[in-house]
Amino acid sequence: MPPTSPAGAATPGAAPRPPSANPVLGHVARAMADYPVTPVRTIRTEIAGIPRTLTLKLEGCSPWHSIKGRTALSLIRSVAGELSVPGATVVESTSGNLGLALSAICRDLGLRFVAVVDHRQSPVIQQAIEANGGELDWVKTPDDATTHLQDRLTRVRELQRDLPHAVWPNQYENDANWRIHESWTAPEFDAQADGAAQALFAGVSTGGTLAGLSRHFRRTRPGVRIVAVDVQGSTVFGGVPRPRVLTGIGAGRRSAFLDDTSVDEVLRVDERQAVACCHTLRHDTGIAVGGSSGAVLAGCLEYLYRHPEVRHVLCLCPDLGEHYGPTVYHPAWLDRLGLPAEPGRLRHRTGAACPGFEPADAPSTPAPATPSEEDAPR
Ligand SMILES: Cc1ncc(COP(=O)(O)O)c(C=O)c1O
Repeated sequence: MPPTSPAGAATPGAAPRPPSANPVLGHVARAMADYPVTPVRTIRTEIAGIPRTLTLKLEGCSPWHSIKGRTALSLIRSVAGELSVPGATVVESTSGNLGLALSAICRDLGLRFVAVVDHRQSPVIQQAIEANGGELDWVKTPDDATTHLQDRLTRVRELQRDLPHAVWPNQYENDANWRIHESWTAPEFDAQADGAAQALFAGVSTGGTLAGLSRHFRRTRPGVRIVAVDVQGSTVFGGVPRPRVLTGIGAGRRSAFLDDTSVDEVLRVDERQAVACCHTLRHDTGIAVGGSSGAVLAGCLEYLYRHPEVRHVLCLCPDLGEHYGPTVYHPAWLDRLGLPAEPGRLRHRTGAACPGFEPADAPSTPAPATPSEEDAPR
């Protein structure tokens, strides 16, 4: 199956369409047509003594550095009619990546953008949002709060009431969130994936990415097991909330897009294991991913230990490590989490010694003792 373009975007090579009468729709269609196919990286390794192949889709290799670029374009398209009013302001609650993508799109469209954020957000992303002309509106929640999302949503509703022409795309309830992953992200991944794939792993926050992937893969590859990865303390699939430190994965409420039929299994990983996986992957392959991707990999490894028959899996990695220099890749932050700072001691473990991700056919990249320049706090 060739890579596809999202519904509404021009297909490369196809006859040009007449420009849309709505400038927002025209802009989104062009951005979608120009969006790159994000690369996959295949890792062959032994887990529990069995050869396995992990195909990672690196969504960080995209214009706004995360999978949320696709979501942002789809959300903006869904409210295009409301944005034609002069003085319209886009308001959204975000843990970071969506805010970054929305700030860039709104800047290009000449729209005001207000991101409602909490203190867990990466300072690197905060600066990038402001550099794009976006405004940060902070909710003050204590470090150990479990109500960040509820507090942010309350604040969005206040802004919606108080600002003239405020438009809230609402990533938590807007079907445009999951639909874009069904029509675009999933077929693209499907076309890049080997026919032998047996399971697909993706993290959940709003659940939009996984809902879209699940709907597509259930149709095209019904034999592929869909595994949702969440973190302990999150209530995306219900349960009791607990304070969490990672952003981009987990939420303090149930997903409006996912139910028990969307997934075959839900794994709730320890955030420390997620962070350890980020370091193991970087140590062994040179790829630095964000914390939510680390969680996906931690869940994947746990699953593979329990399933010797599963040899080939697909993992959706929502972003890279570039925004997490001051957190996931910083010794002081690791210290707060009670994790050792030396990369060699951060290898993911699931009971038995874990061989990590070292590719069978390539030497591992030596790990720097401290975060690389790219990861250093800015
Ligand atoms: C880094 C990162 N990973 C994963 C996700 C989760 O995606 P979704 O909201 O589609 O479940 C997000 C969402 O903000 C994110 O920023």
